[in-house]
Amino acid sequence: MQEPILLQACRRRPTPYTPVWLMRQAGRYMPEYRALREKVPFLTLCKTPDLAAQVTVDAAERLGVDAAIIFADILLIVEPMGVGLEFSKGDGPVIHRPVRSGADVDRLSDRSPSETVPFVFEAVGKARAALPAQIPLIGFSGAPFTVASYLVEGGSSRHYLETKRLMYQDAGAWRALMERLVRVIAAYVNGQIAAGAQVVQLFDSWVGCLSPADYRTFILPHMRTLIHSITPGTPVIHFGTGTAGLLELMAEAGGDVIGVDWRIDLDVAWRRIGEKRAAQGNLDPVALFAPQAELRRQVEGILRAVAGRPGHIFNLGHGILPQTPVENVVALVEMVHEMSMK
Ligand code: CP3
Repeated sequence: MQEPILLQACRRRPTPYTPVWLMRQAGRYMPEYRALREKVPFLTLCKTPDLAAQVTVDAAERLGVDAAIIFADILLIVEPMGVGLEFSKGDGPVIHRPVRSGADVDRLSDRSPSETVPFVFEAVGKARAALPAQIPLIGFSGAPFTVASYLVEGGSSRHYLETKRLMYQDAGAWRALMERLVRVIAAYVNGQIAAGAQVVQLFDSWVGCLSPADYRTFILPHMRTLIHSITPGTPVIHFGTGTAGLLELMAEAGGDVIGVDWRIDLDVAWRRIGEKRAAQGNLDPVALFAPQAELRRQVEGILRAVAGRPGHIFNLGHGILPQTPVENVVALVEMVHEMSMK
């Protein structure tokens, strides 16, 4: 049997049409998800393998996408470190005891993911078993910088002031934090692979706040170690936003596929990433609010930039927004398939 087409694209093999999946394809924009969330808090949903697997599979089927992504969150591995994670209504995640010093880093519990988040591995196994063979399951984790930004800031941030302060002020503490996160994240994604994930995406969503020089010094060596620690043979998607200044460095750090956002043309981005890697992206999530004719023009623009090169995975440049009309998401998937059909 042929490999699923998303996997073929990860390996830069030609595909009959462009595979597409969407970050946050399971979420609040879907009425079914909102109905479930009326009954179950977000963290409970993540920790109940039957429900997490069901949400994963239902979203992929409803949209007709070429991959499912396990329903989980990048902060699940943070909670058992003992920092007091809460998803408060409206404010996003809150960490009650943020990490601000070397002593705080030393206090983080480093129990293994098989002990702390076995429910994620169980959900991966259940989702894999329920999915059709041609739909691969994507596992994921936050990348060390992005996870660290929540640990240090205590939540979402605008300027990453505390994170950068720690990085600049105490290089030893920063290194200790990165090394600890690399260990946990490697075990976490390898556990997902062992449980049935066929591709993994590393979300370095906020790394675009760094200068290229800081990325090279404080992030790149750790990303390289992490990516080298991932079970060989499983494609890695290395994703960030606002990374137009960092693409060469991200490619240098590693990943079979580099994820790019809409702030750069995909052909320009791909040239800088280099031909040895596949590229994922890069529709503006807000294009899903446009009339379908405009949406079609934007999809056309992306496919034209790719010009039939093998190794393109169509995606948004970041996650689907909660207010997005479902019918436009379904239409997008159909458009990508129809317009890219060879
Ligand atoms: O893509 C998918 O469908 C899989 C599920 C997924 C979620 N979070 C579910 C979720 C994935 C891949 C993530 C990754 C994630 N989580 C990232 C990286 C991707 C990105 O958006 O940059 C980040 C930064 C987080 C941290 C996080 N989780 C935040 C900031 C929030 C609150 C903001 C928000 O959108 O509400 C969450 C909560 C969260 N994670 C929700 C979902 C569906 C919403 C929770 C709810 O149902 O109320």
